Amino acid sequence: MLDQLNTIEAEALAALAAAETTAALEAWRVAHLGRNAPLMAVLGDLGKLDKAARPAIGQRGNEVKRALEAAYAEHAEARRAAEMEAALRTGALDVTLPGRPRALGRLHPATQTLRQIYSIFADMGFQIYRSREVESDEYNFELLNMPPHHPARDMWDTFYTTTPNVILRTHTSPGQVHAMREFCPEPIRVILPGMCYRYEQITARSDIQFYQVEGLAVGRNVTFSDLKGTLSDFARRMFGQQVRTRFRADHFPFTEPSAEMDVECFVCDGRGCAVCKHSGWLEILGCGMVHPNVLRNGGYDPTVFSGFAFGMGPQRITMLQHRVEDIRYFFQNDLRFLEQF
Ligand code: PHE
Repeated sequence: MLDQLNTIEAEALAALAAAETTAALEAWRVAHLGRNAPLMAVLGDLGKLDKAARPAIGQRGNEVKRALEAAYAEHAEARRAAEMEAALRTGALDVTLPGRPRALGRLHPATQTLRQIYSIFADMGFQIYRSREVESDEYNFELLNMPPHHPARDMWDTFYTTTPNVILRTHTSPGQVHAMREFCPEPIRVILPGMCYRYEQITARSDIQFYQVEGLAVGRNVTFSDLKGTLSDFARRMFGQQVRTRFRADHFPFTEPSAEMDVECFVCDGRGCAVCKHSGWLEILGCGMVHPNVLRNGGYDPTVFSGFAFGMGPQRITMLQHRVEDIRYFFQNDLRFLEQF
């Protein structure tokens, strides 16, 4: 009997040493410590033994049982530690890797240019005056000296709503009259930024919606020199102190006299390049002295007051500065374009 127990112990311990996986270990536990294990059979049969032999066999049997249990526990713990070690090694987590970048928004290129323009004019004492995008025919045309059927209206074909005479503004100029009617008889120095709409074919150079920044100064003794000085100074602050400007005669129904302002091409310094179409000059805005009829429509007496106005396309400035080739990029929401600014 004692020999049998020694054999059971020796075999079990040998088998345990060979159990290399968790599954093998569990199988070993069932085979050697489970209900049908040889050791359990010996312990279960104790009652059949001679009374005299029982204590020695029983004691040895329990010793073997405790030895196997202890060996099992030790082995299982070693196995668990080894598996953890292996898992850590294969699923290695490199905490020095950079994290996933979080996409950060930024200002739209048109907004950046607009803000630059705002701050330049703010320094010169111009306030921002907001004016509506949905306008009446009266404000967009008539009060700007363009009666119905005036041929100049052809330059500003627009979107008409189903409500008669309610249109999308074609320029920010109607805001001039809104501002004058609000501030009259005080002097005015405002810029009017905002979206404008025109019904036209969409091309690389023209879209049906675009930003404008209008400017208006009204007061006593405001002269064309003030207009030239203000806009030349704006150009220097916007494009650099060296930039030269030139004014060319033009025509707008709501200004008299009227002009276009060009700035010396800041891409080639006036030498001529593809951006300025080899002219050395870039056209950036229309301007002029506020027409007496428009001053009158705003409530000002043109024999006492005078004023100047201008209108520029900030997207065109952005396009020139960053060599953006197609105005349609501005509103396509293509991140490949937007992320460059
Ligand atoms: N409103 C004109 C345009 O859209 C620009 C302009 C504004 C010209 C103010 C003169 C004075 O083309």
